[in-house]
Amino acid sequence: MARILHIDSSPRGDRSHSRRMTREFVEQWKQNHPTDTVTYRDVGRNPLPHVDEPWIAGAFTPLEQRTPELQAALSISDRLVDELLAADIYVIGVPVYNFSVPSGFKAYIDQIVRVGRTFDFEPENSENPYKPLVLGKKMFIITARGGSEFGVGERNEKMNHQDPFLRTVFGFIGITDITFIHIEKDEQGEQKLAESIAFARLQIAQLVEN
Ligand SMILES: Cc1cc2nc3c(=O)[nH]c(=O)nc-3n(C[C@H](O)[C@H](O)[C@H](O)COP(=O)(O)O)c2cc1C
Repeated sequence: MARILHIDSSPRGDRSHSRRMTREFVEQWKQNHPTDTVTYRDVGRNPLPHVDEPWIAGAFTPLEQRTPELQAALSISDRLVDELLAADIYVIGVPVYNFSVPSGFKAYIDQIVRVGRTFDFEPENSENPYKPLVLGKKMFIITARGGSEFGVGERNEKMNHQDPFLRTVFGFIGITDITFIHIEKDEQGEQKLAESIAFARLQIAQLVEN
């Protein structure tokens, strides 16, 4: 039995392609793995706070020295980190906004990249002071984009600051087994979008069988 953490980050509801496809992914996954459990989090429609000064002071103060105020400043982050660590598989929907991720999803990332919880910092190890702590996980990221041709070697590769960013930041905390599924051409009309969605559905059908 695996525990799935399903996260959506589009502010859109029924019109969101990433949201629709993560739902289809999880529904099909459950059909193939009926004993797996699912926790759902919607950071697109229930935005998280941005990190602020008390948060930063708390995160870099050792646990035993934190005042009640500093502990309180980290309470949402602690809950999100607990939820992340408790899961084995992540299914995440992320639109492309201005070449990268929507600010709501960036706020989520800032809450879960936490020293001592999702990565360690060992200054004595001058070669590589950062140690990832979120190990043995699997991640599926379903993106939705207005444009297309953002892949390696493609015309718009240089404009893609989303996939490299997500691989870097999740890799930094230890999540390296990441599969991307891209819905493209939201801006290019019904037919092209429909083809992209159909291809994503084929990919999903294969992925949920493993
Ligand atoms: C504020 C904003 C910025 C966007 N920036 C980009 C972009 O840089 N590149 C792109 O291909 N599409 C961009 N789009 C289009 C969205 O990625 C596209 O509509 C996508 O389907 C949104 O995800 P959703 O359907 O899950 O809501 C942008 C849309 C919005 C609203």
